[in-house]
Amino acid sequence: MKALILSGGSGTRLRPLTYSQQKQLIPVANKPVLFYAIEDVIEAGVDEIGIILGPNKDQVIDTVKSKAWDVPIEFIYQGEPKGLAHTIIVAEKFLDDDFVMYLGDNILRDGIVRHEKRFSSMKSDASVLLTKVDDPQRFGVADLNQDGSIRRLVEKPKVPPSNYALVGVYFFKPMIIDACKSIKPSWRDELEITDAIQWLIEHGYKVDASFVDGWWKDTGKPEDIFEANRLILDDILTRNDGLIEGSRIMGRVIIEENAKIDRSVIKGPCIIGEGSIISDTYIGPYTSVGIGCQICGTEVEDSIIMDESRIINAGKIVESLIGRNVKIQEGVALPKGHRLIVGDNSDISL
Ligand code: TTP
Repeated sequence: MKALILSGGSGTRLRPLTYSQQKQLIPVANKPVLFYAIEDVIEAGVDEIGIILGPNKDQVIDTVKSKAWDVPIEFIYQGEPKGLAHTIIVAEKFLDDDFVMYLGDNILRDGIVRHEKRFSSMKSDASVLLTKVDDPQRFGVADLNQDGSIRRLVEKPKVPPSNYALVGVYFFKPMIIDACKSIKPSWRDELEITDAIQWLIEHGYKVDASFVDGWWKDTGKPEDIFEANRLILDDILTRNDGLIEGSRIMGRVIIEENAKIDRSVIKGPCIIGEGSIISDTYIGPYTSVGIGCQICGTEVEDSIIMDESRIINAGKIVESLIGRNVKIQEGVALPKGHRLIVGDNSDISL
């Protein structure tokens, strides 16, 4: 089996961060979201991975290549995001075997090993992962037959046929390529994977469902990224490879190599990245501090602070998503007040 991991798309709901970085590279518990997908498909035993690239393709290639993986990875450039089914057409040459399509901004707590085994042992032509949700109106939803196979998929239904939402992982046999080529773009001018799956059903192919028990997160919006960060940090184990002086460390905390904690209080679960310096600061639960950050005289809680950012005497920061190389500091000159240089589509609560 092969894997097709989608790391294209424009990520409009995560602007302004996605002006400068592909959303699948945003770190959750200090690991790019995309790496969770790569690890899951490798764990499930795929022989080869194809990664779909979009607007920020070089960034994705560099980040993926910064690590050695056990399975060969091919990069496939989609260009403009024209829909999930379009990525399959673009990857046609690569997809000469059964494959799992995994949306690169999704995280599944328990991975996909069980689902891969199920698909490989069943006689179905496709299998979609589903999970029970309280608010199916917000998702792609499955209408199921008595035998658990799929009768119909509906996008964001006003009257949902079930509480089973589509998770961003699908197993296909190569005939899905014909389905993707046969459908027309939707009202939003995208080739929809749900339409391609519907085409399979209408042409007599068997599409079944595999149910996800552990949590699943689609990290398309800031609040989903915070939630994924909390869920991952909930499972970490304490490790200290840094230097701690005159500080109090409580709960489960990971302190990476060359990180320095000085006269501070760190309350887990949280993670402090390599080489970061934390002084006279309180770092509270569910905070991920990236590599090479400096935080001084500040309180931070429930936040993600990306690499190389500096936060100096900044008061209390909560539920914040702070990009790379950001500088936040108390104003020194008069007049006092918030002095801001803020990009388009930023979201600030003072
Ligand atoms: P979406 O989150 O549905 O789309 P998006 O990335 O354009 O985000 P937004 O709605 O905020 O503008 O995409 C789901 C996943 O599929 C995501 O990982 C991006 C990827 N994708 C592609 O690789 N190519 C595409 O053409 C599309 C539409 C998405």
